[in-house]
Amino acid sequence: MATDRQSIHGQWSSRLAFILAATGSAVGLGNIWKFPYIAGENGGGAFVLVYLLCIAVIGIPIMMAEVMLGRRGRQSPINTMDTLAREEKVSSHWKWLGGAGMLAGFLILSYYSVIAGWALAYVFRTGSGLFTGLTADGVQSIFNNLVSEPERLLAWHTIFMVMTMFVVARGVSGGLEKAVRMLMPALFVLLFVLVGYAWNSGAFQQAAMFLFQPDFSRITANGVLIAMGHAFFTLSLGMGAIMVYGSYLPQNASIARTSIAVALMDTLVALLAGLAIFPIVFANGLEPGVGPGLIFQTLPIAFGHMDGGAFFGMLFFILLVFAAWTSAISLIEPAVAWLVENRGMTRVFAAVAAGLATWVFGLLTVFSFNIWSEVKLLSAIPVFRDSTLFDLLDYLTANIMLPLGGLLIAIFAAWKMSRASSVDELAMGERFFYPLWRFLVRYITPVAVIIVFLSAIDIL
Ligand code: TRP
Repeated sequence: MATDRQSIHGQWSSRLAFILAATGSAVGLGNIWKFPYIAGENGGGAFVLVYLLCIAVIGIPIMMAEVMLGRRGRQSPINTMDTLAREEKVSSHWKWLGGAGMLAGFLILSYYSVIAGWALAYVFRTGSGLFTGLTADGVQSIFNNLVSEPERLLAWHTIFMVMTMFVVARGVSGGLEKAVRMLMPALFVLLFVLVGYAWNSGAFQQAAMFLFQPDFSRITANGVLIAMGHAFFTLSLGMGAIMVYGSYLPQNASIARTSIAVALMDTLVALLAGLAIFPIVFANGLEPGVGPGLIFQTLPIAFGHMDGGAFFGMLFFILLVFAAWTSAISLIEPAVAWLVENRGMTRVFAAVAAGLATWVFGLLTVFSFNIWSEVKLLSAIPVFRDSTLFDLLDYLTANIMLPLGGLLIAIFAAWKMSRASSVDELAMGERFFYPLWRFLVRYITPVAVIIVFLSAIDIL
C-alpha cells in the first residue's frame, strides 16, 4: 500500500509541474553544449547511436527507479535511502548512496556554473553585434580571449552562482515552475529556427551523415563509456537530483509516462542542437572535435551572418542560460534539502552555504582554461594525456560517479526493495510494462554498466 509520507519541502502543483521541473533539470548545457562537442570528439554516428541506446534501455528505467525511490521516501536522497533501507530491512549503509550523490552534484555544479558563465558572457557578445560578418577565425579568437582571462570567467561564474543560490533559497516550486513553462517552448522554437538556418546555409547533409550514419570503426571503449556517462548526465540521473524532484511528486502521477516524456524532450533538444551546429562546422571547414568551445565557436558564425542575427543570438544565449539555470538548481537541491533536514538550517542559509562552497571549488575549472591549462595531473595515463583539471573533473563525475550511482540505484530498486513495494509505487499494473521495467533494472542496467566499466578500464 502507498505510504502516507509527505515532504516537508512542499509538493509540485501537478504532474505537469513535475514534468516541467524534471525537463528543466534534464535539458541544459548537457544537451546544447556538451552533447555536440563530445559527439564531435568521439566520431559522430556510432557515438550517437550508443548514446540513444543508453537513453532507452538504461536512462528511462533508471529515471523511473529514481523517481520511485524519491516519491516513496519523500526526503533528501540521504534520508530517503535511509528510510527505505530500514523499511525494506536492508543495511542502512544505503544512505551513503544519497551522500555520494550530493557530492557528485556539488562537483558537477562547480564546473557547470563556469560554462554557464560563458553562455552569460555570450548574451552580451552576440547582442552587441560583435560577431556581425566575422569569419570562423574571428569568432574563434573571441572565444579564446574570453577563456584566457581568469578574472572574466570568475566574474561570470560568480553571477551564475548567485542566480542559482537566489532561486534555491526561495524554494523549488514558486517562480521556477512558471519560468520553465514559458522558456522551454521558446527554446524549442529557437532551436528549430537555427536548424532551419543550418538547413539553408550549412552543410546539412554532411552533418546529418556525421550524426546519424554509424561508423563503428570510429568509436573506442572509452567513447562508449562517455556515451553512457552522458546518458546519465543529460537525464540528470545517478546522483539524486531526480530522486529529490520525485519526492515532491503527487502520489497519483504516472511515473512511467512522466519519465518517458522527459527523456523524449531531452533527446529531441540534443539532436536539434546537433543538427543546428554541425552544418556550420562543416560549411566553415571547422574541426568537429575542437572540444568544449564548440558551440561558442560555431553558432556565432551563423548569428554573424543571418538577418537579425544579433537579436536571435542574444535570445539563444539567454535561453541557454535559463536552461542551465533550471539544471543548476537541481544539482544543488539534494544538498540543500539535506542541510535543512539534518542540520536544522533555514533554506536561505543552506542555499548560501552550499552555493559558496561550490563557487570556491569552481575556481579549479576557471583556472583550467588559462593559468593552469598546462596542469595535466594524469598525463601518465594515455586517455588522460591531454586532460586538464576540468576534463578530469568532468570525466570523474559524468563517466564514473553517475553510472556508479545509477548501478547502485538499480541494485537497490530491483534487488533490495521488495517487489510488492515497487509494484505499489510504480502503479502500472503487473503485466507487460512492470516486468519489462524490472527486467531492465534488475539485469540489463547493472550488466551494461559493469561491462562498459570493465572494457574502459582496459584502455587505461
Ligand atoms: N542534465 C543537465 C544537463 O544536461 C545537468 C544536470 C542537472 C545533471 N542535474 C543533474 C547532471 C544531475 C547529472 C546529475 O545539462
